[in-house]
Amino acid sequence: MAQSMWFPKLLPVTERSLLRPLLHHTTNPLLHSSTTSLRQSNLLPRRVSTAAVSPMESITVLMTCPPVHPYLVEALEKRFTLHKLDSVPDKAQFLSSHRDSIRAVVGNAAAGADAELIDQLPKLEIVSSYSVGLDKIDLAKCKEKGIRVTNTPDVLTDDVADLALGLMLAVLRRLCESDRYVRSGLWKKGDYKLTTKFSGKTVGIIGLGRIGMAIAQRAEAFSCPISYFSRSQKPGINYKYHPSVVDLAANSLGPKGVLINIGRGPHVDEAELVSALVEGRLGGAGLDVFQDEPNVPEELFKLENVVLLPHVGSGTVETRQAMADLVVGNLEAHFLNKPLLTPVV
Ligand code: 8YV
Repeated sequence: MAQSMWFPKLLPVTERSLLRPLLHHTTNPLLHSSTTSLRQSNLLPRRVSTAAVSPMESITVLMTCPPVHPYLVEALEKRFTLHKLDSVPDKAQFLSSHRDSIRAVVGNAAAGADAELIDQLPKLEIVSSYSVGLDKIDLAKCKEKGIRVTNTPDVLTDDVADLALGLMLAVLRRLCESDRYVRSGLWKKGDYKLTTKFSGKTVGIIGLGRIGMAIAQRAEAFSCPISYFSRSQKPGINYKYHPSVVDLAANSLGPKGVLINIGRGPHVDEAELVSALVEGRLGGAGLDVFQDEPNVPEELFKLENVVLLPHVGSGTVETRQAMADLVVGNLEAHFLNKPLLTPVV
């Protein structure tokens, strides 16, 4: 029986394994509210109104991530004085001339606020991240300087969990390869080969936080036995607990096992993953994240047991809009001296 393994969040393992040590959890253990309860308690902002006029337009916000989502950019521009670092020709010169006005930074999973940037912005009060992951923000530095940090938990959980299941199905049932088979006219020459059943396969999850739980619940519907690793055993959870990632991997992965990474690229030793796949020591992989995005090891391109996605876990219109609302809502709350919606620091 082929076995499978999920990667919603990733944690430490030994060297030479596929996994790399992850020292910091990207989720905020203090936040447990669901989107629904946040909305019910009016903590989540209403959809950003296009007619809104801000009393905060003199507040300068720096967007350090590329302005990929027009909804977010528009919402920020309506309320604040927005600068987009991506479109600045001379970043050093820009930062030195705006150092005394920038009071907020908006980043994401690709670009946030590192120690160097924080040190350059003496008036910085808040980093509002358009992501749940905080790996591009120097949290220790923010704490030290009293800079608040917020992220976008909960609103993206369903999408990321859906995608994890999608990847597992895509790898085991060879969905992408089958699609190419039809498009290239090969079906006319004969049926596509048999693939591997997903329902009932063992699913091992690293990190049973919000996303890990959402994946587990979905996998249960496929009658998959579920086991997990996390820092400590979760009370009241009946899934099988493994005290180490290696232990979990030994019981979930193998030459037929499939590795899914919907967390962060650097959590997996990519070079080792590539050799394991090329040498047939692993049954397949479904990867939404990579070590050096958008660069993906080309050896993977020719492997049909691998499905590669361009970091789209939270990439639906609905979810990105909810994430943008949270980014803006957190900034508004901060500058109105109200409690932050989703505080991390
Ligand atoms: C996005 C993510 O890549 O939330 C995260 O941590 O990795 C994703 O949701 C992203 O930050 C949106 O730009």
